[in-house]
Amino acid sequence: MGSPDYSAKLVEIEVDRPVWDRFFTVAPLILVGTTDPDGSLDLAPKHMAMPLGWENYFGFACAPGHSTCANIQRSGVFTVSFPRPDQVLYTSLAASPRSARGEKPVLQSYATFPASRVDGRFIEEAYLYFECRHFRTIDGFGPNCLITGKIVAAYAEADFLRVSELDDQELIHDSPILAYLAPGRFARIDRSNKFPFPLDMKK
Ligand SMILES: Cc1cc2nc3c(=O)[nH]c(=O)nc-3n(C[C@H](O)[C@H](O)[C@H](O)COP(=O)(O)O)c2cc1C
Repeated sequence: MGSPDYSAKLVEIEVDRPVWDRFFTVAPLILVGTTDPDGSLDLAPKHMAMPLGWENYFGFACAPGHSTCANIQRSGVFTVSFPRPDQVLYTSLAASPRSARGEKPVLQSYATFPASRVDGRFIEEAYLYFECRHFRTIDGFGPNCLITGKIVAAYAEADFLRVSELDDQELIHDSPILAYLAPGRFARIDRSNKFPFPLDMKK
């Protein structure tokens, strides 16, 4: 039994405006790659991104005004690159504002390579890559939408792949991963602990 006045020690957060700036939460940080109408590459960082269930679906929240959203609607595909911690600045710069002519000149300095099953590109030196076909976009989360895709191809740098000869703790230590601590901070994760799953837990 819990204590009936437990909530008295908590601070209530106003919900008549977004709650997300009042505390930190842990998120991934990815670069979504799409193609602009003129055929040029678009990359945009997203942290509101996650697997959608245990099968190969992936989604992220997006503002419909972003080119990423229109590009996916038009082309039906997108790529996802998971940057390493030392690429955080590079990742952030992909959110630079567009010029008056609608271009993101900063992207011209990015080293990229082509996806193979979809028409798209990835950034070099990330550690994990997905090629996605657009599955569904769900509108109506206030002004935002949830863009979802089916992963049709996936690649990783060998050092980041789990293998039976290497302990998971050691793998994460040797090949650290990037976490976005919303809002506005990031962490390099190189230490971890085994999760205490309940005995006989089923997914
Ligand atoms: C760290 C970081 C995280 C972001 N996360 C998201 C996100 O989850 N969803 C989103 O719609 N925009 C997010 N943005 C903003 C977009 O990346 C940014 O507006 C981008 O320029 C949009 O580009 P586009 O118009 O080419 O799609 C984020 C920006 C940064 C710097």
